[in-house]
Order: sequence, then C-alpha cells, then structure tokens
Amino acid sequence: MQRTGEAPLAPHAAANAPGVFITFEGGDGAGKSTHIKFLAQLLEEAGLEVVRVREPGGTSIGEQLRAVVLDPANAEMAPETELLIYEAARAQIVAQVIEPALARGAVVLCDRFTDSTLAYQGYGRRLPLAFIEQANAFAAKGLVPDKTIIMRCADTQEKRGRVASREAMDRLERAGGSFHERVNAAFDDLISEDEQRMSIVETVGAHSDTARAILTELEDFFPWLMDGTCNIEPQLAAFDAAHRLSHTDEATS
Ligand code: TMP
Repeated sequence: MQRTGEAPLAPHAAANAPGVFITFEGGDGAGKSTHIKFLAQLLEEAGLEVVRVREPGGTSIGEQLRAVVLDPANAEMAPETELLIYEAARAQIVAQVIEPALARGAVVLCDRFTDSTLAYQGYGRRLPLAFIEQANAFAAKGLVPDKTIIMRCADTQEKRGRVASREAMDRLERAGGSFHERVNAAFDDLISEDEQRMSIVETVGAHSDTARAILTELEDFFPWLMDGTCNIEPQLAAFDAAHRLSHTDEATS
C-alpha cells in the first residue's frame, strides 16, 4: 500500500509529543491483539513507525511482573498487591518505551492501559477508583491516550471459547464470572465519562468488518486509510482469508 501526501498525525494530547498514542481495551478474548497486529501492518506499510506493546509487559521488568501477576500459583495475592504490580509494570513501559516512542513521532499501539486498571482492579476487585486514578496518573506520568478503542465481543459463546481454548487460564481469567461481568460493565461506565477519547467497537461479522470499524474510529489520525487515498481492500481480503484459514486449522487439528 502506498500512501500519498503527509500523514496528518495529531499532536499528542498529554505529552506535547508528535506521536499518536492509541490503546485497546476490552474483556479477555475480545480479539484485541489480532486487530492491533493488522492495524500495525497497515500503518507500517504506509511508512509510519509503529510501536506495538502490551500491558502488563513490553519491557524486561514488565514481563517479569506480568509473570508474577498472572501466575495461577499466586492465588493468595491481595488486590492491593495486584494493583501495584500493574502500576509498576506501567511505570516502566511508559518511561522506557512509550514516552520515547511518542517523542520520536511513532504511533504507539498499546494492548490495554490505564482503563484496564479502573475496570479490573476498580470495578472487578472493588478497590477505590479515586486512588486508582491517582496511581494511573503517577505511573503513566500523566500520559492520556489520544484514542481508546474498547473491543467488545458480541458473541459471548465465541468469546468464552477463545478464552477457554488457551492452554491454561491465567490468574485473572480464573477470577470468576461475576468479576468478569463487573469488568465488562465497567467499560460502559468508563466510556460515558470520556466519549471523545473512547469508542466501542463490536467484534461481529468478518474480521475486515471489525477492522473497518476500528479504522473509522481512527479517521481523525489516519484519514488516508479510509478516504480512498489508499487501496486497503487487498489487505482486508487477506486478513479475512488468514482468519478463515486459522479456523480451518483449528477445526482440523
Ligand atoms: P492480556 O494481556 O491477555 O489481556 O492479560 C492481561 C490480564 O491482566 C487481563 O486479564 C487483564 C488484566 N489487567 C488488569 O487486571 N489490570 C491492568 O491494569 C491491566 C493492564 C491488565
């Protein structure tokens, strides 16, 4: 895909840096990583620097913290400990990866960020939201995403299947049905407080339909992806084909 003209990248909301910071949120198994990967490919093919990260993780320290917080063997972990581990991993990735990338002008695509902490530790674990907001701002050094896509899997059966089919459920996935119901409901509350930054994308239909919905939400940052300047139809078709292939593999394995 060739991009013509300059990419109209929006100035960063919080850090006054030239990059674009986009986060993806949602319950477990909503298909975030598949769509982040596809978006990253489109933007890279257009010549942009894309930094793809996930929380918790994305740094050596963060990945070690991730292993601790998600390890099902740590069943005795107190909610307060859990919160501080997520914030510690965040402080590291913001300082080490995200801030420098935004300062360089990169597009940073982050799989989960501060809204996950409000949803999981706030609504899920029932820790005080006001404290979490302060801890989030401290760990993220005040960095606020330019845009947050909340991905929601309409087909609960499919979502459950995706999570259940993983080798072993991690500690958070084992947290129980009512915990996850509170987390999913949390995103509706969160979006009502910041409708300009946050948008919900339902993962229904073909992968290309969901991808189009995401790109439409990101039109302010990358209008050339959807206004006909670029022909992204081949990429969308390949995305669907790859997904069909992986379903066939699953069915035959
Ligand atoms: P994931 O990378 O597979 O989404 O796993 C991360 C898990 O950690 C997921 O269950 C959501 C949870 N989580 C929190 O509970 N709080 C947080 O702040 C973040 C970033 C993730």
